Amino acid sequence: MTDRTDPQGLPLDPASVATLAERGLEFRPASLEGEAGEAYIRAVGHGFLEESISEERVEGFRRAMTAWRSAGVFDPASANPLSPVGTIGVQVLDLTVEPDRTLPMHAISEVTVAGTHRRRGIARAMLTGELRAAKAAGTPIAGLTVSEATIYGRYGFSPATTLAHWTIDTRRVQLTGPRPTGRYDAISREQALADAQHLHDRARRARPGEVGAWPMSWESLLGLLPGSKDTEKVRVVRYTDAAGGVRGLLVYTLKSHERDYAQHTLRVQHLLTDGAEGHAAMWRFALEHDLTTTVTTWNTAPDEPLLWMVGDQRGIQREEMDHHWLRILDVPAVLAARTYRVPGAVRLRVSDPLGLAAGEWVFRVLADGAAHLEPVGSPEGGGDPGEAGEGADGVATVSLDVATLSSMFLGGVRAGTLHAAGRILADPASVRWLDATFAPLVPPLLSLWY
Ligand SMILES: CC(C)(COP(=O)(O)OP(=O)(O)OC[C@H]1O[C@@H](n2cnc3c(N)ncnc32)[C@H](O)[C@@H]1OP(=O)(O)O)[C@@H](O)C(=O)NCCC(=O)NCCS
Repeated sequence: MTDRTDPQGLPLDPASVATLAERGLEFRPASLEGEAGEAYIRAVGHGFLEESISEERVEGFRRAMTAWRSAGVFDPASANPLSPVGTIGVQVLDLTVEPDRTLPMHAISEVTVAGTHRRRGIARAMLTGELRAAKAAGTPIAGLTVSEATIYGRYGFSPATTLAHWTIDTRRVQLTGPRPTGRYDAISREQALADAQHLHDRARRARPGEVGAWPMSWESLLGLLPGSKDTEKVRVVRYTDAAGGVRGLLVYTLKSHERDYAQHTLRVQHLLTDGAEGHAAMWRFALEHDLTTTVTTWNTAPDEPLLWMVGDQRGIQREEMDHHWLRILDVPAVLAARTYRVPGAVRLRVSDPLGLAAGEWVFRVLADGAAHLEPVGSPEGGGDPGEAGEGADGVATVSLDVATLSSMFLGGVRAGTLHAAGRILADPASVRWLDATFAPLVPPLLSLWY
């Protein structure tokens, strides 16, 4: 098994290296240093349509990307052979699956293919390669955040969390939540770094779908790396409770109205809190900010309590979007990592377009909520099930693909919804049981991009 703590040690998949070599392309780890490193960093920037990339920004990217094992596809025949025509970065992050329970997750980022080489199977070779490499290293699940929702389903990824963009009319909502008794301080982004890391680490352990921070992640998110855009606009306010504990941080920018100085928009970039007091305090600061009439957010949880701390919910426009896409690689390891609400059993028949996680198991939830998965064919797992319905052991069969199971896993998408969408084949009683037993202790969320 690979040392998961050292991303640079994550090997490339030999099959993808060979597939690309047959097409005259080299798939190899990419250094971020020197001229070759700069070419790699600029290729990633171009892939994400950065308008121009200054020397300073290259340096900022270099620092931000050191936590990832970057790899490139190179075309030796190209006019610039140092510049990759495909890029991908990976590292293993801690994925929270239930409060205080985590799994190692193969996180994928930096996916780009040069416009000159698009639609020739480079992305497919890189992505399927990473999934095989993760599986070979014993990492049970992969994840990514996407710029386009049409790319990754074919590889077995599927959305497991959503987030919401909120637009709040502050004149209309009438905040009714608790009044803070602590103090607010405006602080610099540099001063905010340690608090942001600490608050995020506490919050992410309590929320399924969140990931642990990686080196330079908060430096990057707070715009502390060279070449970061618009950093002079970023403001930070810290809330400290009456006992002196830091309970919240609000990272935000202000945008003026074209004509009316009393109608600024406050954009929440990050709202970091570790409990109800800090949460209420930070929202009150944002919603009662002078000279602003609109507050916007981009990473709001579907169950954000603010909705129940206002007098007029219709003063908040909400727009939901898929966010954290997961891809199970090892069904027994992943399903056994969380607990379930209602005892019972079904036979799970999981298909997988890449064959990595396919199989059949009797999925049994015990009285204490623990899951036990027994491969079908083993003495405990029972004999060969029929096409549908019950096997010889009286356990009903549920058929679904790995993407569907990946969406269900954290409890953010109900089995009943996926069944109604035609993505689960099962009898109504099994669907009701899956709905009840997969219910999450806390609804999932990912509040960052990676
Ligand atoms: C998206 C991107 C990586 C695809 O690279 P590519 O090498 O052209 O893709 P491939 O040739 O390997 O195509 C693989 C499959 O994806 C499909 N596909 C590729 N780009 C797609 C897109 N933008 N939308 C939908 N499907 C796409 C192909 O049709 C192909 O389908 P198939 O395997 O079912 O036949 C590339 O277009 C790109 O760099 N885009 C800009 C950066 C970006 O969006 N990155 C993703 C960040 S999350």
